[in-house]
Amino acid sequence: MGPRATRAGPSTTGRPRPAGLRLGARRTNLGLLIGLVAALVTGGLAFAAGTGWGRPVVVAHGLAGLAVLVLAPWKSVVVRRGLARRSGAGRWTSVAFGLLVLAAAAAGLAHATGALAHLGPVSAMQVHVGAALAAVPLLAWHAAARGGARPRRTDLSRRALLRAGVVAGGAGLLWLAVEGATRLAALPGARRRFTGSIPVTGQADGGATAVPGPVDAASIPVTQWLDDRVQALDPAAWRLRIAAGGTTRDWTYAELEGFGDQVEAVLDCTGGWFALATWEGVRLDRLLPPGAAGSVVVVSATGYRRRLPLGDAGTLLLATRLAGRPLSAGHGFPARLVAPGRRGFWWVKWVVSVELDPAPWWRQPPFPLT
Ligand code: HEM
Ligand code: HEM
Repeated sequence: MGPRATRAGPSTTGRPRPAGLRLGARRTNLGLLIGLVAALVTGGLAFAAGTGWGRPVVVAHGLAGLAVLVLAPWKSVVVRRGLARRSGAGRWTSVAFGLLVLAAAAAGLAHATGALAHLGPVSAMQVHVGAALAAVPLLAWHAAARGGARPRRTDLSRRALLRAGVVAGGAGLLWLAVEGATRLAALPGARRRFTGSIPVTGQADGGATAVPGPVDAASIPVTQWLDDRVQALDPAAWRLRIAAGGTTRDWTYAELEGFGDQVEAVLDCTGGWFALATWEGVRLDRLLPPGAAGSVVVVSATGYRRRLPLGDAGTLLLATRLAGRPLSAGHGFPARLVAPGRRGFWWVKWVVSVELDPAPWWRQPPFPLT
């Protein structure tokens, strides 16, 4: 089905005419542009997903990413021609762009199958997202400098849409093949959650088996968002400040320990793993004055913060204990937020204050910037 650059029959222009499914350079580039933008958008959405609506988004992401790979044989014709025409920095920038996209796709597959969840200190998912984000400025440059993907009215013709359907079908078949092989070989990826995250492995057997949960604290990795660092806080000096309606109230560690509210919740990290665990502490709504409106801003000793809907306060927990033991520093001692149904970056650690604010919860960057 792939393209051939060799002559496949008489050509009036004298140029090689590709055989098989003919897409042409412009449609190939346009297809890649659509596939990459779709992968970036759905990838971002997949990172926001913590509840059931995430499943179709994550499947769509896999399809978009695989569609880029399906187009590779057609693109190779364009690439060979471009490389023959060019030399210098522009050529190498295009090659670097290509390598980043290939690295992102390979790391995405390494994660999804679970065949290679870690590459040294980093997870396959971190490599995946790192490579994809690094490719974004190069994609913008490549598309602007090279052009060659301007849509035409004829792209909506029946024949053109049929060809697009064949590419999409190819991506679907590839997706089924990857998913089928992962399950047949019983790779860790077969136990992915709808967000694509893989269960953590237990410590008792040296990490040989995945644990559906609830797990002990040692099984839960310690990870931070970007530049956040683990804090060592003195519980005697530590206070939790609740600021609401112009008044403040400071709670001590001992006071918070007295509540004993419990919740079993899944911590699903954007690094690509998840863990079900039992958390204990105090429900946030118990610390807030009744009748308040707006959002709550949960602030860490590091300055890291997330704004959440006040309506969630009844399901949010300020946890002081994990799996029956006080939190470790890495897990957020003295207190960290537990936000069921939300990805790990909402679970603010080393919380020092909770501020009621009239602004709506969505008035913040979708992902923390530091
Ligand atoms: C997976 C995505 C893509 C990769 C890996 C990729 C890679 C490359 C490489 C390595 C070359 C040859 C070197 C060069 O000419 O600079 C090239 C050429 C080219 N690319 Fe891309 N590209 C991708 C997507 C796109 C997109 C989205 C567009 C259009 C918006 C595009 C338009 C072109 C054009 C017009 C050429 C020059 C062809 C020629 O001179 O004959 N490419 N691409
Ligand atoms: C250049 C852009 C990207 C490409 C080409 C790409 C491609 C892929 C591929 C091929 C897979 C494996 C899919 C499967 O077999 O099911 C994958 C998985 C994944 N990607 Fe991306 N991706 C891109 C960007 C991103 C971004 C920016 C994010 C997040 C911010 C992201 C998040 C994910 C997640 C969570 C998975 C796991 C999905 C699953 O396990 O089914 N991707 N990606």
